[in-house]
Amino acid sequence: MKEFFLDTDIHQSGIPIIRLDAQSLDQALAALKAPQRAWVKASRFKPEPGAYLVVPDASGKPGAVLFATGKDKTGFDDPLIFGHLPGVLPKAQYRLADPDAHGSLALAWALGSYQFSRYTKAAPRPVLAVPKSEELERSLIIAHGMYLARDLINTPANDMGPDELEAAARSLSQTHGSAFSAIAGEDLLVQNLPLVHAVGKSSPRAPRLIDLVWGDEGAPKVTLVGKGVCFDSGGLDIKPPGPMSLMKKDMGGAAAALGLASMIMRAKLPIRLRVLIPAVENSVSGRAFRPGDIYPSRKGPSVEIGNTDAEGRLVLADALALGDEEAPDLLISLATLTGAARVALGPDLPPFYTHDEALAGKIEDTARTSADPLWRMPLWAPYDDWLKSPVADMNHITTQPFAGSITAALFLNRFVERSTSFAHFDIFGWTPEARPARPKGGEAQAIRAIFTLLERYR
Ligand code: BES
Ligand code: MN
Ligand code: ZN
Repeated sequence: MKEFFLDTDIHQSGIPIIRLDAQSLDQALAALKAPQRAWVKASRFKPEPGAYLVVPDASGKPGAVLFATGKDKTGFDDPLIFGHLPGVLPKAQYRLADPDAHGSLALAWALGSYQFSRYTKAAPRPVLAVPKSEELERSLIIAHGMYLARDLINTPANDMGPDELEAAARSLSQTHGSAFSAIAGEDLLVQNLPLVHAVGKSSPRAPRLIDLVWGDEGAPKVTLVGKGVCFDSGGLDIKPPGPMSLMKKDMGGAAAALGLASMIMRAKLPIRLRVLIPAVENSVSGRAFRPGDIYPSRKGPSVEIGNTDAEGRLVLADALALGDEEAPDLLISLATLTGAARVALGPDLPPFYTHDEALAGKIEDTARTSADPLWRMPLWAPYDDWLKSPVADMNHITTQPFAGSITAALFLNRFVERSTSFAHFDIFGWTPEARPARPKGGEAQAIRAIFTLLERYR
């Protein structure tokens, strides 16, 4: 079987990859032939994390690969560093010198092999031979979800509007035999999703609410809500060119939710899963919603529009209220929600919010063990009344120039009351500079950590 540039049929063949660090360098060299040791010396190979060297065999062909791991100068030990190799090694078949140690290496290899090649020719990629194991099966499940989410994010908005996002969700649903429905266009008003309608009505590509349900009705209910803003121009409070240029990724929350749903269903986790995706395009036209407009929300309170560029929290408010109605055991939102989250923590460390202390601890734990970094930020109650409006029950933004990610989370929190637990993830959805296993482009943050959490759920 060959998937994600991993091959389980050839696990004894291929060029061996010898992993080493500064301490084990001498021991690794001892396993090489004398001319190879001379080659390593002549190449001035230094075992700094991420460094690699192809060592020839007697005929001059690649005979082995040295790959250095360990802590970098800052003391950071990148758990996905092995994912650097698929992007740099010549196309050939490789194997691990120590196949027992394949652990998470196969996943790092799969994630590092990813390329978005829908519009161009894919570069040739090396293949890694790995023994079959339960852990490998799990890595493939995770890789499937990660690839799906990355593809969805990387696809530009001209080919990934609300309709195409719905089609992607429908196709995932068909693969796993889940129930599927969508409410679109004016029906959003009939079905009481006024904020999804308000944000999406400007675009000729109809807004919609996608609803996928899977699993045993008696199992614990887990509901994922993903921000599906297929393009965020900012609406009438139009974004400047720099910030707008990346906004095809503003459905990153939806992509992450679908990627996670794929993992959950493929792994057949014993949960009752629901995925809700408000899919809209935030565009500019004579039909666009405006600053100062006031709309009802699904839950009831009226919302005054402070800035049409804070569209994500509006569509999420209605979707969260809908999800909350059946009082799930766990309600999760994933969204490329604020620039402020990036100001606080940068692109690679998304904040999450929850009032559930026990859940927070588990998320911190699985974030660490899944190499999917997350950082808890507070739902700081005293900032909640920054969301006031003189003419409506609330404004969706604050005029304060502070705590933008927190106030967005506090706004969402107002639409959740019956769910046992609620956690919100303000993800970036993008890798701005390639790192091992994380090629530049769309990235599904938080979902390996959440999947690991759900594997252990109850
Ligand atoms: N999609 C953006 C947030 C965003 C921007 C995420 C850049 C990642 C990178 C969101 O819809 C937005 O525009 N938020 C505004 C809110 C503001 C108008 C209150 C923001 O964060 O600037
Ligand atoms: Mn916006
Ligand atoms: Zn947005």
